[in-house]
Amino acid sequence: MALTIAALISIIMLSAISIGNSLSLNYYEKTCPDVELIVAKAVKDATSNDKTVPAALLRMHFHDCFIRGCDASVLLNSKGNNKAEKDGPPNISLHAFHAIDNAKSQVENSCPGVVSCADILALAARDAVFLSGGPSWDVPKGRKDGRTSKASETIQLPAPTFNISQLQQSFSQRGLSMEDLVALSGGHTLGFSHCSSFQNRIHNFNTTHDVDPSLKPSFAAKLKSICPLKSRPKNAGTTIDPSTTTFDNTYYKAILQGMSLFSSDQALLDTPKTKDLVSKFATSQKAFYKAFVNSMIKMSSINGGQEVRKDCRVVN
Ligand code: HEM
Ligand SMILES: *[C@@H]1O[C@H](CO)[C@@H](O)[C@H](O)[C@H]1NC(C)=O
Ligand SMILES: *[C@@H]1O[C@H](CO)[C@@H](O)[C@H](O)[C@H]1NC(C)=O
Ligand SMILES: *[C@@H]1O[C@H](CO)[C@@H](O)[C@H](O)[C@H]1NC(C)=O
Repeated sequence: MALTIAALISIIMLSAISIGNSLSLNYYEKTCPDVELIVAKAVKDATSNDKTVPAALLRMHFHDCFIRGCDASVLLNSKGNNKAEKDGPPNISLHAFHAIDNAKSQVENSCPGVVSCADILALAARDAVFLSGGPSWDVPKGRKDGRTSKASETIQLPAPTFNISQLQQSFSQRGLSMEDLVALSGGHTLGFSHCSSFQNRIHNFNTTHDVDPSLKPSFAAKLKSICPLKSRPKNAGTTIDPSTTTFDNTYYKAILQGMSLFSSDQALLDTPKTKDLVSKFATSQKAFYKAFVNSMIKMSSINGGQEVRKDCRVVN
């Protein structure tokens, strides 16, 4: 009985998400046929100047979708006394906004007033994964941009200290499953983290352990030397996936070896279902890619805004 009710609720949630939503693959076929080429080129150009761009764009899209749906609220600037999402606490390492600005201005030159910033960001995230050696996929389009962005709402983002039940809750509130959680966490195959995001694991972990015992000791020692408690360099940190900078499945191998960075990565081993998925993705990059693409399309379909912004940083 309990199961039936839970299943019913998730069916209702999923359909609520898909009803509001009329995304389609050929949305700009007549109104802006070159949009995908233009965005891909802008992402490629930005990346050739700065190798940190792909990771930034992927994370930016995730943050966008988790707050008010994928509505480009993450791109809005603070205005007057309204502090926007990008100036909220977990904005650490959000960057590469200029890459989206450039893509948008080139898209506007070719088809003014037609393509939403939310769609540009969804396309850019896909292009970022592909440019990093990962899979590609067709992105459904037709998102609208929102008119609200509040720094205070960024506390709704999952924190790196979250345990498995907190992660599950954060994802299920957005219609995303445990499989989506494990697959999308694979985004951590790219990018950089500051010490503040994982220092809970290497200093004063709890009253009996200074260091999280699930970390491999030599790896923990390395993290401690990068992130000393005192006189730490200002932007100290490390790549999230220790072994590579390409979009691959080494993130899952690292988790199994006690070399994940965040408590939220390690937590994926704490239920049999999520643990099995970590093992599956660690063994099969193909299975990871397939699941990641499927979950990205799901996450990037979370509904948002109302308008097509002219400038991604300000509402019309
Ligand atoms: C499951 C919940 C998640 C948590 C708790 C989480 C947490 C974090 C944290 C703390 C950082 C480092 C920030 C810093 O210190 O600079 C980070 C970086 C990153 N995250 Fe996540 N994340 C989650 C899910 C995701 C998802 C779903 C994606 C994309 C599919 C993603 C992609 C990234 C990327 C690419 C970076 C590197 C950013 C850069 O180098 O600029 N994360 N994440
Ligand atoms: C993050 O927030 C801080 C403090 O509110 C702000 O100074 C900084 O510019 C923000 N970072 C980005 C990338 O917008
Ligand atoms: C996860 O954290 C929450 C909040 O701190 C706590 O109430 C809950 O018991 C924890 N769950 C697990 C499985 O550790
Ligand atoms: C500290 O964490 C370890 C590993 O998770 C656990 O075994 C131990 O019981 C914890 N100690 C306290 C006091 O919570």
